Amino acid sequence: MTRGSTPADVQQQVVAMYESHPFPSYEDKFRKTAEEMHLKMRLLGVAEGEYKNRRILDCGCGTGEFSCWYAAQGNQVTAVDLSGPSLEHAREYAQQYDLSDQVDFVRMSVLDLDFPDDTFDLVYSYGVLHHTADPLRGLENMVRVCKPGGIVVVSVYSRYSRLIHRQKQRLINRIAGDDIEKRFKWGKRLFPLTARKLKLRAHDASDAILYDQFSIPHESLHTVNEVLGWLDDHELEYLGAFGPLRVRDYLYAASIPEYKRLETTFQGYLLTRLASGGLKGMSRLLGFRPQQDRKFPRPSRLSRFMVQSGWFLFGLRFSCFSIAGRKPIKGD
Ligand SMILES: C[S@@+](CC[C@H](N)C(=O)[O-])C[C@H]1O[C@@H](n2cnc3c(N)ncnc32)[C@H](O)[C@@H]1O
Repeated sequence: MTRGSTPADVQQQVVAMYESHPFPSYEDKFRKTAEEMHLKMRLLGVAEGEYKNRRILDCGCGTGEFSCWYAAQGNQVTAVDLSGPSLEHAREYAQQYDLSDQVDFVRMSVLDLDFPDDTFDLVYSYGVLHHTADPLRGLENMVRVCKPGGIVVVSVYSRYSRLIHRQKQRLINRIAGDDIEKRFKWGKRLFPLTARKLKLRAHDASDAILYDQFSIPHESLHTVNEVLGWLDDHELEYLGAFGPLRVRDYLYAASIPEYKRLETTFQGYLLTRLASGGLKGMSRLLGFRPQQDRKFPRPSRLSRFMVQSGWFLFGLRFSCFSIAGRKPIKGD
């Protein structure tokens, strides 16, 4: 992003990028979401009953994979994004899976959600707020439209997990400037292994993930402390996180069957595979069991430090961490 850009410039450039390259556009669409979502909800501390037969808002839905997954769980879903072509893909996708009656795709900004207060049971956003000029304003909107007692899930890029990628982006930007297509080409040319790794993780035959990672005009990076602070400022009760925020919760995650499937996306990274295998072994040794509706205490300072150091060393899936919080019921 060029210096001196206004929030309107940020929005215009980010949206233009996703209009020419809708994300994620995976070919095997349900594969990634289905593998990931039940596991993710469990680790976010969201009980199954809280994401089934509810009213859900997906903020920055892209091509609609998560929105359709929520619809397939029997929810009534509203999904918003600013990229018209992404919404078109999303509508086609919903039609293809016979979910059109359950999901409504609307062109709207997460920074200006045009819904009444207290409308949705669960308000979800993955990989969006860090592409806006004002993530906090996005969160404020999300909390406002969430019902009291409902759940807000916010997912942003981790400062530590993304440190090295940020240096790659800097180099690409220095060579290719603001041109999205040039950045994409230079990204692939300079970092072929990263490109291969990204496509493998995303199960992605298209280049959407590479545009998303090499060509994005604006992104902000965040720490766990920061996001926990956002929750506190909005009086949201901490429920859980994905990736987990305590070593103990990682061991629990490794005992859940879906974890094994998620692990296949790390093929080819020796360090990550070793760490992942080590976790599974420890989890078995210490007798962790995948019980439902486990409660996750708020992580201590030491836990946050250890986990974020792990993200720095081993990476974090797509560099994004999610935290869930519950909006208080009035009078609580
Ligand atoms: C990385 S994609 C994430 C898509 C989807 N959440 C997913 O993870 O599959 C980011 C999306 O955010 C959308 N976006 C960016 N700024 C936005 C805003 N202010 N309001 C709504 N959507 C926005 C982009 O158009 C893009 O589709």
